[in-house]
Parts: sequence; structure tokens; C-alpha cells
Amino acid sequence: MPMLTTKEINEIRNSVDIVKIIGEFIPLTKKGRNFFGLCPFHDDHNPSMSVSTEKQIYKCFSCGASGNVINFIMDYEHKSFSEAIIYLADKAGIKITKDIYQPKKQEKHEPLYQIYDIATKYYQNNINTSSGSKAKEYLKKRKIDDEIIKEFQIGLSLNKIDDLTKLLLKKGFTEKELVNGGITNKTDSGFQDVFINRIIFPLWDVTGRVIGYSGRIYTDSDMAKYINTKETDIFRKGMLLYNYHRAKDSTRKEKFVILMEGFMDVIRCYSVGIQNVIAIMGTSITNDQINLIRKLSPNVYLCFDNDDAGQAATLAIGNELEKVGIEPKIIKLSNDLDPDDYIQKYGVKQFKLAIEEAISFTDFKLDYYKKGRNLKNNDELTNYINDIIQVISKIDDNIKRELIISKISDEYSISKEVLLERLNKYISRNKFEPKQLKPKTKPESLDKYQKAERQLLYYMLKSKEVIKRYEDDVSYLPTINGRVLANEIIAYTNKYGHINIADFITYLGDKQELIKLVSEIEMFNLKEEYTIDEINDYIKTLNEFSVINEIERLKNLMKNELDIMKKAKYAETIRRLKIEE
Ligand code: UTP
Ligand code: MN
Repeated sequence: MPMLTTKEINEIRNSVDIVKIIGEFIPLTKKGRNFFGLCPFHDDHNPSMSVSTEKQIYKCFSCGASGNVINFIMDYEHKSFSEAIIYLADKAGIKITKDIYQPKKQEKHEPLYQIYDIATKYYQNNINTSSGSKAKEYLKKRKIDDEIIKEFQIGLSLNKIDDLTKLLLKKGFTEKELVNGGITNKTDSGFQDVFINRIIFPLWDVTGRVIGYSGRIYTDSDMAKYINTKETDIFRKGMLLYNYHRAKDSTRKEKFVILMEGFMDVIRCYSVGIQNVIAIMGTSITNDQINLIRKLSPNVYLCFDNDDAGQAATLAIGNELEKVGIEPKIIKLSNDLDPDDYIQKYGVKQFKLAIEEAISFTDFKLDYYKKGRNLKNNDELTNYINDIIQVISKIDDNIKRELIISKISDEYSISKEVLLERLNKYISRNKFEPKQLKPKTKPESLDKYQKAERQLLYYMLKSKEVIKRYEDDVSYLPTINGRVLANEIIAYTNKYGHINIADFITYLGDKQELIKLVSEIEMFNLKEEYTIDEINDYIKTLNEFSVINEIERLKNLMKNELDIMKKAKYAETIRRLKIEE
């Protein structure tokens, strides 16, 4: 098949509006010439992402995320370049009948991904051999059939000390790679596999690549039920949500996502046709995970184990979600069951009913604080009411507040006036409790040389005349990125003539640092027009820098020079440069 040309890719990009596309994922409001919204790429509390209609680019002033609409879709939707192009073409109603060139990503940790690829296939193979019959039997007992085993890439580590390690060494990986990669342990008696005689559940990153494992015991054993891959260059448990990549489509369709504790719960749901489910794998959550969840859907259901730990986790995680503006719904299960047990015991129909009957987080809290308290005892009731006052204080909706106060007033025969008085007292005491905001990362301050560099680059992006001045009159730019960018501008202009910023960003491919710099320069809001005097000024400043730089270089050479004649020569050159300066 022929390849999509650069021109065609630019046309696709140009046929959608970045404000409209980003606006479908996050609310944007117009302020001045640009649109602003909460940046989805970091824990943002003030809208720090700016989107420009005019330039068709976005930039976060806090975390630096930036690019054109293709970069946004790639990062936000975890899509490859070609997937993003297909997505945008679809939005624009353009049919693609050609192949799309895939800019090659430079992947620093490629060997580690390869290791996990080989290991996963090895484990998957084991479970289908005769050594795997007991593990298969265990899974069968848990109602996990072959189809699910395949879909979730479930495997088996044999009851051998170093089978996998040996295999990978034979394939040319080093012991160091295997140990750092969390595959192999170094012990007194030599190198050993991390997972021995366990059912292996692969763990994926958000794009669906295997980056680690959880291994479960499946025979009577007093060892830990699960062991997980240690933190490695590619595996960070706090960045991971089990089944995230698979849950994306279904979440979009259902318009909500269900968060659970265990990956077994997720696998169970999937096996009965509920796919918008992810797991935190435990009872604590990180900000990174919250951000990932927020990207999936603003509608989050929590369905944790119906035991003390699970309910305490529901409260804690619900509170965390509330801080980022998500009010979760809570799915209540009966007895001490987890979702897996519940579905097996009562069936999927009943579970779907439980989803429908999910309660608000407020109602969950009203209930939660009752636990372990005898509300007939006045002291305990008072404590309960005090906890509830706190809960009510967090409700923004006046009507809802009023309703809950009435309910409590009726239920416990306490006058509304007293409740309101308490509430107001609590609010006024805590009114100015500031939200935990991350210190805003200050934009790095630029010295006058860097400023001149950016100003010159800005006008180079706009004018061939300025490019020519750069080529003729500037010997050296102060920063590496600035120098590389200048070269790219020249190359691009020679090839395509005029520069359209958003297309130029596509051309830069995965050169993140350059994309960041271009976006920064563009969003600086410098004036469109320049005067020759201004350009002369920038060039003068930059050449001043290159002289200073050269003097520094010569001084260093001179310091290390032993030959007295050469030393003198350096000194003479430096003297001359200083006069020029
Ligand atoms: P659970 O103990 O609720 O697991 O732990 P589960 O899903 O019910 O597992 P089964 O049904 O007994 O097989 C929830 C999550 O906590 C992590 C796992 O990721 C698990 O999915 N966990 C639990 C560990 O990492 N290590 C453990 O020893 C236990
Ligand atoms: Mn379970």
C-alpha cells in the first residue's frame, strides 16, 4: 500500500479543530485569545493548560505538556502516531486508504520489554503442558476457563529454581538485566527465578504492554498469597491499574468505570461480560492512579470488598477522589464478600442490580459512621452526629444539604436549628482550610541570552528573512535545544517553504524537548511583527554570548596547557576577543 504523505497528514490535522477535540475530553473556557482547562497530564487544580485556536497547539504552563492535536490524542488516549491519525481522520470524516508512516520511538528500556515478552510466552506455554495440570485444575475450580486464561495471558512458573533465568541467559540477556528487571533474584546459592511454582498473572501498562507479574500460590502453602514484581525501570505499582488498557472502550460506552481491589475481581467481571472494570491491586491509591482514572471517566463506581479493610478503603479513596472533583458512587455487596465471590454466589444479574442500586458517597458516609456505634447511647449518637456534620459540610448542593439535615433531624429527634448551628460553626471554623495544592512549578527564569535566543527563534519560525540573518550572522546559540531547533527550522523551510507551527510539530516527531521549546516560544505571545533593529539587537546579544563562551573555552585550554608559547598564544587571542566584545 502507498504511504500517507506529509501533506495528507497535515490535511487531516488541519481538518479538525484542536479546541473542539480537546474540549471533548476536558472542559475548556475561553480567556482572551486562548482556551484554558485543567491539565490532564498532571495533578492540576488550577486550569494551567492553554489551547490556541489560532496556532492549533496546546501547552501546560505547569508541567510543560505540549504539542498539536496529534500529540494530545497520542498522550491522552495512549495511542500510537498512526492510531491517532486514524482517530482524527475518523472525526473529520476522512477515509484513509494508505499506510501511515510510524515515526520510530526511541525506547530506552526496550530490552526489558523484550524480556517480559519472552517470559510471558514462556509462562503461558508452561500452563498448557503436563506440569500445568494442577494449576489448570485450580483455575477451573475458580471458574476461570481457557478463554479467560488466554485473554488475560495467565501462565505458570514451574517448580524449578532457575528455569526462566537460564532460558533468558541463553537468549543473550545478562544476569544484571534480569536482576534489575525483577525476573531473577541473586541469592547466596546463585541466581534464582523470582517466581517459583506460582500461577502468573501478567500486569500491563496503560498501553497494554506486559511490565510485571503477580504470582499466586495454588497449592497448600504458608507462603504469601501473591507476590508481585519489584519496582523496576518499567514497573511502578503506583502507576498501574489492572486492566486499564482493556477497559477503555467499554468505559466510554458505559460512561462509567468500576474500581475494585483485586485483579481476580476484575477477571471475574470480565468473564461475565462486564468490561469497564479496573483494579488498584490493594487498598491504597496514588495520585498518578487517580489521574489515570480521571482520564478514563468522571463517573467512578467503587466496589471494594465488603469487609472492614474494604470499607475503610472506600472511605479513604472516596475522599481522595472528591478532592479532584469526582463524587464516586458506591456499590454495596452483602456478607463479607468480594466482587468475585459475590458474582459466583449470586450471579451476574444480581451484581448488575447492585450496580444500579449504587449509593452516593454521602450516603455511604452517613452509613459508614454508624458502624460499631450504639446510636441509642447518647454519647455515641453525639459522636455520630458530629461526624455527620463534617460530611454535610462538604456538600455543595444546598437542597441536598437541607434534605439530609431534615432526615437526620427526624430520625434522631434533634431540631434542625441545632443541627444548622453546629454545621455553621463547623464551617466557619474550617472555612479557610486551604486545599492541598502542589507548589506551582515556577517557570524557569531565562537569562538575557536565552531570551534573545527564543525571540530570534520565534521570528525565524515566521520569516525567511530572519532565517537568513541567522545563517549569515549568528555563530552560536546558548542552548543545545535552541541550536537543534534552529537547524530543524532551516531544514523544514528548505523542504516545505512556509512554516505552519502545528505541522512543524508533527514533523518534529518524538523529539519531545523540541516540541516543548517550540510550544513555549509560540505561547509566549510575542508580537507578530518585528523590526530590523530588534533582530539586530537579538543577534548582537547572541554574538556577545558566543564571544564570552569562546573566551571561557580558551581560558580552560590555557589553564591546562604546559607549553609556555602556546599559553601565550591563547592569552593573545583572549585579549583580542575581549576588545571585540
Ligand atoms: P485480595 O486478598 O482481596 O485478593 O487482595 P483477591 O482478589 O480476593 O484474590 P483471591 O481471590 O484470594 O485470589 C486484593 C489485591 O491485593 C493484592 C493483589 O493485587 C490482589 O489482587 N495482594 C493481595 C497482594 O499484592 N499480595 C497479597 O498477599 C494479597
Ligand atoms: Mn477473592
